[in-house]
Amino acid sequence: MLDHLVARAAKAHTLQPLSTKSLDNWAKAQPAAIQTWIKAAGFKAKPGSFLLLPNAMAFLVGVEEGIDRWSLANLPASLPAGTYQLVEDDLSPAQASAHAFAWAMGCYRFARYRSDAKTFATLVWPKGADRAAVERTVRAIGLGRDLINTPAEHMGPADLAKAVIKVGAAHKAKVSVTVGDQLLKQNYPTIHAVGRGAAADRQPRLIDLTWKGPGGDKGPLLVLVGKGVCFDTGGLDLKPRGGMMMMKKDMGGAASVLALSQMIMEAKLPLRLRLLVPAVENSVSGASIRPLDVVKTRKGITVEINDTDAEGRLILGDALADADAQKPDLMIDMATLTGAARVALGPDVPALFANDDEIAEDLLRYGRAEGDPLWRLPLWKPYRRMLDSKVADIANCEPGSFGGAITAALYLAEFVSEKTKWMHIDTYGWTSGLGAGRPEGGEPLGIRALYAFIEGWLKQAAKTPLLPRRAAPRPKPGLRAAAKRPLPRPRSRR
Ligand code: BES
Ligand code: MN
Ligand code: ZN
Repeated sequence: MLDHLVARAAKAHTLQPLSTKSLDNWAKAQPAAIQTWIKAAGFKAKPGSFLLLPNAMAFLVGVEEGIDRWSLANLPASLPAGTYQLVEDDLSPAQASAHAFAWAMGCYRFARYRSDAKTFATLVWPKGADRAAVERTVRAIGLGRDLINTPAEHMGPADLAKAVIKVGAAHKAKVSVTVGDQLLKQNYPTIHAVGRGAAADRQPRLIDLTWKGPGGDKGPLLVLVGKGVCFDTGGLDLKPRGGMMMMKKDMGGAASVLALSQMIMEAKLPLRLRLLVPAVENSVSGASIRPLDVVKTRKGITVEINDTDAEGRLILGDALADADAQKPDLMIDMATLTGAARVALGPDVPALFANDDEIAEDLLRYGRAEGDPLWRLPLWKPYRRMLDSKVADIANCEPGSFGGAITAALYLAEFVSEKTKWMHIDTYGWTSGLGAGRPEGGEPLGIRALYAFIEGWLKQAAKTPLLPRRAAPRPKPGLRAAAKRPLPRPRSRR
C-alpha cells in the first residue's frame, strides 16, 4: 500500500482534483479545445471518475466537495501504470493527508494466495500531508485486513498470538500467552470451556499485551479487549453452511484492537495500554461444551449455555472481568458478536454500547469527523430479564430473537463494574465492497474513529487530571445536559 507513495519523482503525470462545483470555473480558464474535450467526454467530476486531457499527460479527477477521503482510491488500479502528482495549489494539509490515505487504500490487495501480480499506479506524496499519521493509519488497516482475510487454517489461536507478539516486539511491549489447561489453573474457565472442543494443536489461549508510553506509570490505563474466535462453527449448535461462510472473520474484533494498539504504540501516546485477546476456535468434538452445561466464570457468576453459538460473549466475559479488576481508566472491547447488530445497522456501521454518555457521544463525534461512523444502541436494562436462567445466575443468550445485540451487550455488562468507563463495539469486521478503497473482505471498522477519540481523551485527561476513582459521584451527564436545555415548547397537534 505505502510502497505506491513516493517522496519525489523525476517525471510525473499531473492529477487535477475537481469537484462537480469547481469544474465549471476551472474549465472556463482553459483553452477552448480543452473545454470542448471535457464536454464531449461528458466529464462531470463525479467523485472517483477521471478524464485524460489531450496532449497534456494530465488527468482531471473528480472529488467530493469538502474533505474527500475515498475518491482517489479508485485511481491506482484504473489509471495507466506510472507516477502521478496532484496539483497542490488548493490542497489543505487535511485534504493532502486524506488523498494520500485514499491512494494507499486503493493499493490494498490480499495477495497471500495469489500467483498473479497486480500493478498499481504511484503517487508523489502531496505537499502538506501528515506522513506519519497517514502511514500509521494505512499500516494498521492493512494489518487488520490481512489478519481477518487469512483463512482459519493459517490464522488459528496460535497464529493470532504470533501476530500480537510480532506487533508487541516492534514496540517493546510485553506479551504473555496462557494456553490450554493453564487457562483453568489461571482461572479463565469460560475461555477454556469454549475453546476446549478444538484439536490439541489449536488450543484456546488468552493473549495479554502490556505497554507503557512516554510518561511510564503516570499515564492513564486503557484496556482494549478483542473477540478472537478464529473460526466459529457454532459448536454443537452448528451453524448451517450459509451462516458459517464468513466465520474466519470472527476474530475481527481482535484484529481491530490489535491494529488500534499498533497505532497507539507507533504514535507513542502517553498512556498505559493493555490488550487482551481471548483466542479460540468454536469447534465440534466430544470435548465441546454442550447446550445446558453450566460454567462458573472467572468472576464467579455461573452461566448456563443455552446456545453454544453465543460463544463470543462467553470468552469476553472472562477477559473483561480480568481487565475490570485492574480498575482501568477506560475499557473498550470490539467483537463480531451478533448477527442482530448487522440486521439493525448493516455491514458498515458498528454498534456502540457504553455505560457513560459523555465518552459515547465523544466517540460518535470523532467517528463523524473521521468519516468512520458508529451508531449507538442502548444498554437497555429491562432486557436483562431475557437472560434469566432456571438453573444458573445467567444464561448466555435469550430464548427469543428480539434485541439480540442489546442482550449480548447486557451479558458483557455483568462482567464490568459500573465504576469502569466501558464501551463495547459490535462490529462486522468486514465490508461488502460497496466503497472505493474498501474491497470486499476484512475491515477493522471504527479504528480511525477510536484513535482520534483516544487522542482527544488523553488531551482532556491532561487538562483535568484524572479524578481519583470512587470520588464523589458526579451528576449523570444526561441529567446535567437536560437541566441546561430549555424546556421544549409544547407543540400544537393537528
Ligand atoms: N460470530 C457470530 C455473530 C455474527 C454472525 C457476526 C454473522 C457477524 C455475522 C456469533 O458468535 C453468533 O453466532 N451469534 C449468534 C448469537 C445467538 C446464538 C444468540 C447470532 O448472532 O446469531
Ligand atoms: Mn457464534
Ligand atoms: Zn462468533
